[in-house]
Amino acid sequence: MIRLDNIVASYTTQRGQVNAVDGVTLEIPDSIVMGIAGESGCGKSTLMKVLYGDIGFPLSLRSGSVEYGLTNERSEPVTTDNIRREWFRHISYIPQSSMSSLNPVVRICDQFVDFPATAGRKKEVLAQVRGFVQKLGLPPESIDAYPHQLSGGMRQRIMVAMATFFQPEIILADEPTTALDVVVQKSILLLLLELQREMGNTILLVSHDMGVHYQVTDKMLIMYAAKAVEYADTDDIFQNPLHPYTLMLTNSLPTIGDDRARRGLPGSPPSLWEPQKGCRFAARCPIAADRCRREEPPLVEYTRGHFSACHFAGDVAGLKETLQAGPKLSEVAHDPSRLMSDLEADR
Ligand SMILES: Nc1ncnc2c1ncn2[C@@H]1O[C@H](COP(=O)(O)OP(=O)(O)OP(=O)(O)O)[C@@H](O)[C@H]1O
Ligand SMILES: [Mg+2]
Repeated sequence: MIRLDNIVASYTTQRGQVNAVDGVTLEIPDSIVMGIAGESGCGKSTLMKVLYGDIGFPLSLRSGSVEYGLTNERSEPVTTDNIRREWFRHISYIPQSSMSSLNPVVRICDQFVDFPATAGRKKEVLAQVRGFVQKLGLPPESIDAYPHQLSGGMRQRIMVAMATFFQPEIILADEPTTALDVVVQKSILLLLLELQREMGNTILLVSHDMGVHYQVTDKMLIMYAAKAVEYADTDDIFQNPLHPYTLMLTNSLPTIGDDRARRGLPGSPPSLWEPQKGCRFAARCPIAADRCRREEPPLVEYTRGHFSACHFAGDVAGLKETLQAGPKLSEVAHDPSRLMSDLEADR
């Protein structure tokens, strides 16, 4: 289990400090796919950086820590303080853009073995890497290329290969397929899912695509303006949301055969520079009351495993009736195995 305890992470800028993650406390069970969703700028990538331990100027951890439920070689518990030493072996990161994270002037194979984990046994590891990339649908000689000699989809597969080769317990994937075409996106997701099933590791997946979340994830965290506003099983997030923001976010999910116009989310998130009192979603919330503008709602467990930060969590069901323009979710299967067969059919 990964435990996040009151994480506050901020960027130092010329205007001063801004909290991009502001008091997030969570427990993430092992061996699940957890989705993270929320509008641009709500702190998803910052949370991933904190989890990866990639904290350095301008980002700093102002409070809180992460416990990973792992022990290192010295039998010490792995926490925020020593997670960096576990990169690739216990935790890996698949960033949004493979182009900016692969070194353009170093051949892939050299990037593959340039980790402490491979010290002294590079030849042996490279032979295994050739076999592994082949399993992932890449020609073994692709690792002899420079990044620019590969297509975007191939580079992203290389990133997936690097992130999974050492079978880490935790894989962080920050919009891993955003820059790719739909078919390649699907095949990369399939690849990640297959590897997750084989290895039983935990994947944290940031995506703007609610359809992907619905089909792939077991649990979801919804973030709004640097806060965790809802955390629950994916089925509950879609079928029984307890935060109006979640409801409005999932309402935009298109379904096959349903060509009604989707309602966007009116307005935009508040500035993180001057966080207002009370609930940060109040200004856009159709059920906001005075209390919401005065008092910040804490993240509370309403039913077992279902957390919401809304004073009126119980009223969201009523709101759902009002917003009936939403999709018929029964038409979309929340069933990763169905996605797998869809993807197989595409291949
Ligand atoms: N290097 C930085 N310096 C200063 N502020 C930053 C920096 N990186 C991010 N921020 C700010 O932190 C906040 C959260 O950013 P973050 O990248 O975590 O959002 P996000 O949810 O990943 O957004 P997106 O969906 O667009 O990727 C934003 O307001 C952003 O402007
Ligand atoms: Mg981001």
